[in-house]
Amino acid sequence: MSNMSNMSNITPVDITVTSAYQTKFGELWDKSLYDLIAETIHGVLKNSSLEKKDIEIVYFANKMASQACDQNHISAIINQILGTQVPVIRIEAACASGGVAVSQACLALESGKYKRALIIGAEKMTDLPVDQISYDLMHAASQQERDAGLTFVGLYALLAKKYLITFDATEKDLALPSAKNHKHAQSNPKAQFPFEISVEKIMASPLVADPIRLLHCSPITDGAAAVIIEKNKNNKNKIKIVASAQAGDTLALSQRETLTTLPATTHSAQIAYTQAGISPQDISFAEIHDCFSIAEILAVEDLGFCKKGTGFRAMRNGDFSMGGACPVNISGGLKACGHPVGATGVKQIVEIVTQLQNPTHTKLKKPLVGLAHNIGGTGGTAVIHILTK
Ligand code: COA
Repeated sequence: MSNMSNMSNITPVDITVTSAYQTKFGELWDKSLYDLIAETIHGVLKNSSLEKKDIEIVYFANKMASQACDQNHISAIINQILGTQVPVIRIEAACASGGVAVSQACLALESGKYKRALIIGAEKMTDLPVDQISYDLMHAASQQERDAGLTFVGLYALLAKKYLITFDATEKDLALPSAKNHKHAQSNPKAQFPFEISVEKIMASPLVADPIRLLHCSPITDGAAAVIIEKNKNNKNKIKIVASAQAGDTLALSQRETLTTLPATTHSAQIAYTQAGISPQDISFAEIHDCFSIAEILAVEDLGFCKKGTGFRAMRNGDFSMGGACPVNISGGLKACGHPVGATGVKQIVEIVTQLQNPTHTKLKKPLVGLAHNIGGTGGTAVIHILTK
């Protein structure tokens, strides 16, 4: 898989984020998918000076509405809520649906056809039992992997096993991202599990698929997030998207040349850094796709924050904790905030915007540059956005 995008074709991105909003993430039994979408539309418009009629196009990220909510024709629901007749495009790219929706909306604006887009990510997962949800999630994996009886926990367990053996990392190292992200989530009222969990408790939690334990996993979550983006908005104080890059890979892990890197991340990151004209060391903080703790360790390496095989050592040093060189998952990440799959990629952008507007971490570098990293499946899709003020 070496057919990288032609780097000479990469053009800069210049998009303004006008407004951002996120619902509470969690087990929201009193809210339907419709309620979550309606709340985000209301919230994102309220946080701006815009009205429903100002929205020109909508990108809607969702993975599971057909299975979990018996609904596929979401575009009509969104126009029903907006009271408009604008184009609504549903994006399904597994857990990267949100990132791809933001990326496609950026392309629509860069094309010049539209000046303003609304992106919504929403997912309702907790109404179904966890075995049913696990089965439905596996529609984003290969037939061979499904036939083998694997779940996503099992697939990431294979990646974790390979990593631990190759780089001499320990099971304790696997617990570090979860412990860090739970610590960060304590100050996030929108997180599903906003409390600290010790490394010892994580290591003592039940094994789901060796070596992945319950507390290495992102949970099953309901939630939604939305952003409004615009082109040609010359406001110097606004947050800008300066890079928006997507790359792909094989669906099946068995078709990959390596299991200790997710090439879709490295490819999309290289494009994004080129678009933004920066290097990984210029990133002040990042929201990273930690669907399982091993995913965060792989990502900090694949994004170039540290060398391959050293991510767990950098975590031991606290490099990605608050106060470290590049805090990762200040929100609590997927682990502690929850992972409503279609909403996650949009929520990451909301979090970066919130941090850029009002940094909670005084030691963050200036100028502040935030990176969002969203993965679909086991890296069949990766999307990177870089934002700055
Ligand atoms: N973090 C913290 N606490 C968690 C948790 C998590 N990830 N998952 C569950 N808990 C807590 C629950 O709140 C519950 O606590 P309680 O007993 O005090 O109420 C307890 O742990 C047991 O939870 P339960 O809901 O019974 O767990 P489960 O066995 O139904 O599901 C997983 C656990 C890990 C199997 C499930 O969350 C899962 O499949 N996660 C991965 C989802 C996924 O694959 N997403 C796509 C990624 S590519």
